[in-house]
Amino acid sequence: MISPAPAPAPARDLPPVLVYEAGLRAVERGEHSGWRVRHDDGRVSPLPLSSWLAGARPGDHGLVDRCTRPTLDLGCGPGRLTALLAARGIPALGVDIAAYAVTLARRRGGIALHRDLFAPLPGEGRWRHVLLADGNLGIGGDPAALLRRCASLLHPRGRVLCETDRPGTGLRRTRIRLEPPSGPGSAWLPWAYADSEAVAALAPAAGLAPAGHWSEHGRWFTVLAPDRTRRPGGRH
Ligand SMILES: C[S@@+](CC[C@H](N)C(=O)[O-])C[C@H]1O[C@@H](n2cnc3c(N)ncnc32)[C@H](O)[C@@H]1O
Repeated sequence: MISPAPAPAPARDLPPVLVYEAGLRAVERGEHSGWRVRHDDGRVSPLPLSSWLAGARPGDHGLVDRCTRPTLDLGCGPGRLTALLAARGIPALGVDIAAYAVTLARRRGGIALHRDLFAPLPGEGRWRHVLLADGNLGIGGDPAALLRRCASLLHPRGRVLCETDRPGTGLRRTRIRLEPPSGPGSAWLPWAYADSEAVAALAPAAGLAPAGHWSEHGRWFTVLAPDRTRRPGGRH
């Protein structure tokens, strides 16, 4: 008797990190176009892999100039900022969940760790600067939790330097997926977008307070410092 063939397993969406790493490899091979971010409202925008793989972006130097002491670059990607800091002699550690991004960051001369930024990291509570650049405030889809994590990494006199969205855009918690020029996209992942006002509103619950902001080359940045008058999540 012939038994029926098993039904094919349902196609699974690819983990976002694999699609991202495939994108980095493709751009390195010179295949620059067509990588996209799809938002859950249907909007599609380019995934700026080429810019992350290139040298300093306009506005990067203003960010790096403010990092004068040991700096943690969270979600360092292929290490543009980590390497810029290292070239200036600033002790800097990049952290990224994508192994291939970490390989590229090291190749560029940075020190980088392949790790989830929410997992234990070296020097917790001692970093003078913690960077969230290139929209990394969106990592995990919960900026309040991410700011709490940053606060736990920071030296009492340290600063979080985070790049924010265009003023007036507020806080948006959403889902995105990464799509190659052709073929299947990634699974959906939680992401978020926040402008400086939204960051200022979220900061106190993380034990942080706004300590400055600047804008250059169409980019916006907010500085956060430990708020000695508050305890994270507690009364004050
Ligand atoms: C918007 S890209 C930032 C690119 C990067 N700043 C650069 O200079 O190329 C977001 C980065 O965060 C990393 N990432 C996402 N979730 C992460 C997590 N939980 N822990 C560490 N890195 C993470 C991604 O792998 C990706 O490299």
